Amino acid sequence: MSLIHEASRQKSLHLRDVFAQDPARFTNFHVKTPDMLFDYSRHKIDETTLSLLEKLAVEKKLAAHKHALFAGERVNSTENRAAGHFALRDFGDAPLMVEGRDVRADIHYEREKALTFAENIRHGVIKSASGKPFKNIVNIGIGGSDLGPAFVVKALKPYTSHLKSYFVSNVDPSHLADTCEGLDLSETLFIVASKTFTTLETMLNAKAARAMVASKLGEAAVSAHFCAVSTNIAAVNAFGIDETRMFRFWDFVGGRYSVWSVVGLSVMLAIGRDNFISFLKGAQKADQHFKTAPFRDNIPELMAMIGVFYRNFMKYEAQAVLPFDERLSRFPAYLQQLDMESNGKSVKIDGSRVTCETGAVIWGEPGTNGQHAFFQLLHQGTSNIPVDFLAGIESHDDPARHEVLLANALGQAASLMQGRAHDNPHRRFDGDRPSSFFLYQKLTPEILGMLIAFYEHKVFVQSVIWEINAFDQWGVELGKEMATKLLPAFKGEDVAGDSSTMGLLNTLNLQRG
Ligand code: F6P
Repeated sequence: MSLIHEASRQKSLHLRDVFAQDPARFTNFHVKTPDMLFDYSRHKIDETTLSLLEKLAVEKKLAAHKHALFAGERVNSTENRAAGHFALRDFGDAPLMVEGRDVRADIHYEREKALTFAENIRHGVIKSASGKPFKNIVNIGIGGSDLGPAFVVKALKPYTSHLKSYFVSNVDPSHLADTCEGLDLSETLFIVASKTFTTLETMLNAKAARAMVASKLGEAAVSAHFCAVSTNIAAVNAFGIDETRMFRFWDFVGGRYSVWSVVGLSVMLAIGRDNFISFLKGAQKADQHFKTAPFRDNIPELMAMIGVFYRNFMKYEAQAVLPFDERLSRFPAYLQQLDMESNGKSVKIDGSRVTCETGAVIWGEPGTNGQHAFFQLLHQGTSNIPVDFLAGIESHDDPARHEVLLANALGQAASLMQGRAHDNPHRRFDGDRPSSFFLYQKLTPEILGMLIAFYEHKVFVQSVIWEINAFDQWGVELGKEMATKLLPAFKGEDVAGDSSTMGLLNTLNLQRG
């Protein structure tokens, strides 16, 4: 039996009947760890599918690839780097090898430097230029230097201190202007977060923020109100930020995998040392689980391989992530970068073209809001879109309303799967729409770290099956280069372009005078 035949067999089955015929369906198709329950019983799979998928993973040498990742080998071959994010959350004693070098001491040093700085800001030991304790933290960064910290700070709101966190990413000047409106700059610390310290958006926003501080508080105040997170010491120095206020990480940490590094400085400032360490330790638990659990109990491997079955054999194109947890509202946006920047590729590691579909379109919004927007399409649209539901058993807030939230999450998952017969075709629900369900006790720093790391590993496993490099992102280059070439047109210089680009440019220049 091949996976192609298996897909047509699964298409001929309805999940409602599968559940009716097998009272042990949930028992047999869920994983329970001490921290999390992962229910995958509502997927169009069974024992046969899983053994075929496991066989595929073996054929693609998943175990060897995992070993190479955690051994710090240069798995990012197109950039000749390791993908060493796992090392940032390893609290063991053994040498921590990345690219043949023990990086444990460096990681510890930079993390401690950032944590100490953060604690000193939190407790008012480090003060602003005018001697006031800081109240506002503005992180200026984009992509991995924004999405992770912004998402995590929002998710862990119950653990945050008196400091108010803000995030500016877009080169659109409105973002910085609107964020800083009403902020007392004399109580505001800016973090310039950029792995390369060359990213156009971040550099322009950072320069604008610097100019704002210099004009409101005086040039001498700038050094007290800025710090930086980067791999590029020279560029940080050139910007005028002192090395004592620069927190370093390394090329072997990819941008979208960097929240565990000092890119998490805004998280450290928001939730403090102990909570940040718990966040890392949650991810470390997920690493351990991924390394050691057998396939049938391995949450990221199951997520990945079921996703491969859907993408390549059932031909599903999208994957929705629907946290029934308002504080996870930025998780879909975070996962869009993690998954789509990693696996949105058409060329294999060896340079040849892929012969199957790769990364799915990832999207989502928190429930119950999504129910009043796009759930219509999930239930009755012509595309079958698998869903990841996520919910906490306990809320940090009102338990009674939390029950309503949970009932909705369960109700949606059940009705997508079961559907409903009806004489009126408009009111008929086909059902047979698959979903996973993550149930965790409560959204703590540790649980959040674990969840993110599960998704990181899911993305990695899929890249192994598709033989693509999950750790480069050449696809972000072309549009940015084109923008750079077109920019001089706004100063009246001649540029070349297709008729659409030139037509739009001419209209813009005419209208702008
Ligand atoms: O969009 C491309 C990208 O390189 C991302 O991979 C990265 O997270 C983002 O830009 C920001 O890069 P940097 O941290 O170097 O400013």
